[in-house]
Amino acid sequence: MPFLSDTLARVKPSPTIAVSNLAAELKAQGKDVIGLGAGEPDFDTPQNIKDAAIAAIVAGKTKYTAVDGIPELKKAICAKFKRDNDLDYTPAQVTVGTGGKQILYNALMATLNPGDEVIIPAPYWVSYPDMVLLAGGTPVFVEGPSQNGYKITPEDLEAAITPKTKWFIFNSPSNPTGAGYTATELKALTDVLMRHPHVWVMTDDMYEHLVYDDYEFATPAQVEPGLYDRTLTCNGVSKAYAMTGWRIGYAAGPVEVIKAMGKVQSQSTSNPCTISQWAAVEALNGPQDYIATNNEMFKRRRDLVVSMLSEIDGMVCPVPEGAFYVYPSITGLIGKTTAAGTFLDTDETFAKALLEEKGVAVVFGSAFGLSPAFRISYATDDETLRDACTRIQDFCASLT
Ligand SMILES: Cc1ncc(COP(=O)(O)O)c(C=O)c1O
Repeated sequence: MPFLSDTLARVKPSPTIAVSNLAAELKAQGKDVIGLGAGEPDFDTPQNIKDAAIAAIVAGKTKYTAVDGIPELKKAICAKFKRDNDLDYTPAQVTVGTGGKQILYNALMATLNPGDEVIIPAPYWVSYPDMVLLAGGTPVFVEGPSQNGYKITPEDLEAAITPKTKWFIFNSPSNPTGAGYTATELKALTDVLMRHPHVWVMTDDMYEHLVYDDYEFATPAQVEPGLYDRTLTCNGVSKAYAMTGWRIGYAAGPVEVIKAMGKVQSQSTSNPCTISQWAAVEALNGPQDYIATNNEMFKRRRDLVVSMLSEIDGMVCPVPEGAFYVYPSITGLIGKTTAAGTFLDTDETFAKALLEEKGVAVVFGSAFGLSPAFRISYATDDETLRDACTRIQDFCASLT
């Protein structure tokens, strides 16, 4: 009898973390490696947030809290939803967890039964399908191809819905593509959902504040109030406030689901870190101006990467509306051979050869469910990005 669980056998470890680890390992061996795999801002957490955490420690706010968050943070979250999304939630409709990841996991664990289907647009954030599998559900993928800016169509969404569909997971701006749906594009999807009252929406708004040019963020319950009673709006402080290590995520939605998520958390991790919760209160209630400053930098980096990669024959690099990723499609490079003699049959081989031959670590597209492509995180300085893109250009120019 195997010792490890059957459920775990269906799940794979995070490929993005694997790439980051491999790049770090090669660097530690003294190799000249540029890691573009990490999904976190390179900026430091703002000082006012750090000060709030220090003040919490000094004041002895270092004990257990209510499992699903302190009242002060829930109040700040309600105010945030009103301010940014024009959504009315009461503290009883809010739950706080250890990162956006735990929030999504709690929601799936609290609601899925064997055979329940969850629609996931591809390319997708790597954790969605595996979390669904861990919770006993079945992921159903709908592809958003590069020609459509990596977005799905209402027709494709409609075709994927069955009587077993429980959730539609929506993520805009997206990890890994940075694609952001406009309010009009989103309304076309919510119109489909209005025709299927048994389908709930889990919207992952993690990159809400990281948007560029004239793109305006929109979230499902905002564009279609008719979905309010079956939408779980998930978000967190990790990306917008450069707080990935603090581990605070949150969600708002119908009380029954929120309570059930708290039940899962009460028997796993209990409350998220008390000190981080106080830091998150300051993040949400304090000044927001550095988000715009950071975004100017992110936009400049995005433009640099997109323009350099767009010069490459065989690579198509759509301009992302948000987040800090680009997702070039490489159909034109598959079937070629590298200078060192590697035949590029898949995007995984491409990424491996790029790392071995030019020292650039990217994440291959098959990890995100849409190939052939790869993901670059541009959350690093301009000089490093220019160096990395030059190496990618050289690598592609040497293919035969
Ligand atoms: C789309 C998306 N959702 C959720 C998360 C998880 O965020 P957190 O670090 O708060 O757990 C990430 C992190 O990479 C993400 O990209």
